[in-house]
Amino acid sequence: MPKFDRRLRVACLASLLSLPLLCRAADVPSLQVLHWWTSAGERQAARMLAARLADEGVAWQDAAIPGGAGLGAGKVLRSRVLAGDAPDATQIIGVSIGEWAELGLLLELDAVASAGNWNKALFPTVRELVRHRGHVVAAPLGIHRINTLFYHRKLFARLNLAPPTTWAEFEQAARRLRAAGIAPLVQSSEPWQVATLFENLLLATGGPDFYRELFVRQSPQAASDPRLAQALQRLRAMKGWMLNAADEQPWTEAVRRFGRGEAAMFVMGDWAKAELREMGYAIDTDFACVPLPGTDNYHLYSVDTLAMFVNDYARQEAQEKLAKAVMSPLAQQQYSAAKGSVPVRRDASQAGMDSCARSSWRGFARGAAAQAPSLVHRMAADEESRDAIIAEVHRFYVDDGMAPAETQRRLAGLLRTLNFRSHKQGSHHGTQDPDRR
Ligand code: BGC
Repeated sequence: MPKFDRRLRVACLASLLSLPLLCRAADVPSLQVLHWWTSAGERQAARMLAARLADEGVAWQDAAIPGGAGLGAGKVLRSRVLAGDAPDATQIIGVSIGEWAELGLLLELDAVASAGNWNKALFPTVRELVRHRGHVVAAPLGIHRINTLFYHRKLFARLNLAPPTTWAEFEQAARRLRAAGIAPLVQSSEPWQVATLFENLLLATGGPDFYRELFVRQSPQAASDPRLAQALQRLRAMKGWMLNAADEQPWTEAVRRFGRGEAAMFVMGDWAKAELREMGYAIDTDFACVPLPGTDNYHLYSVDTLAMFVNDYARQEAQEKLAKAVMSPLAQQQYSAAKGSVPVRRDASQAGMDSCARSSWRGFARGAAAQAPSLVHRMAADEESRDAIIAEVHRFYVDDGMAPAETQRRLAGLLRTLNFRSHKQGSHHGTQDPDRR
């Protein structure tokens, strides 16, 4: 008897000639999938994946752990693996993929990838993201754009405002909104959400090269650069425009408040678009999105991926079916439409994409020079560096008395420590640094 019997005995009742008939009981293999998609839009996207997996004759056993950006899911995953109870498949993204693969715990998906010609189908950045030491170790789902500024169309229309494309326009719009008694911006003071806003501002002031210098190469010199000071100042200025800047609300609550029109703008990854739809708001009617000012030519990305734990290879066949299923053109299209992301396949059709997705798609397709890997969403740095940088940014955000120069000094010290540690371990940061490929 295996430790975890996940083969579900499924029986079905059919009605034939009005007589109940017990259909042939079948053994359906199942896979337990650990993830952090718990909002309405996210759940809808997971249902799409489960349906495509069912087409392959495999049942999706859901193990959803609440917590935006995967804070809780990461912890649960680590403790489950330590307890010898790794899930069959799990949402592991970005640099974390390499960390788990390095331990030899992830199933190599080379056969599926080569049968499906992933090499050709995937955007180069995504192709690199799912590879570790020459092997494919994760199946990619969709690409999210983090530099997304949502604006409330009806509130903007009421004041005859155009969506801002520069910081001067942003400030002008914010002033007019406030004068009309409307909160310009809603955000949350939750650390990962503050840092998500901040990485946007850093990209806006420094562009992708400086962004990589600080977050991927983690250069202590970059921490004393005036562009970092400028991004910090802008974070403080943004705080001044916020509705209840001290609210540590989940991102779904911020979405809700934005949807209701409690504030006119909101900066968040485009998964918020899916949530707005689930709440009954229509894109281009109730709300719309533009890249944050200063990031028009850039794509701050987070790519969702599923990795499979080897365990004792008992579920390899079903795991390979999952990898194959999520890369099918149909699953790619349905998943991203539900999730707010765009497909990872270069041959995906743009026909059914909304305005926000089309802009994201074109931005990402510009290639590596226009792309910046999200620090908060694990695309730029290992977990430890990420957490430490987020904590410093958050400290600056909550303490209005802290000067940007002080945060810069603290970050420089932190990066020196992180550099020293990674040097000692013989590793280097940032598998997403194209210069290191
Ligand atoms: C994930 C998204 C998820 C978001 C909010 C991101 O890290 O990539 O799939 O919707 O966090 O939890």
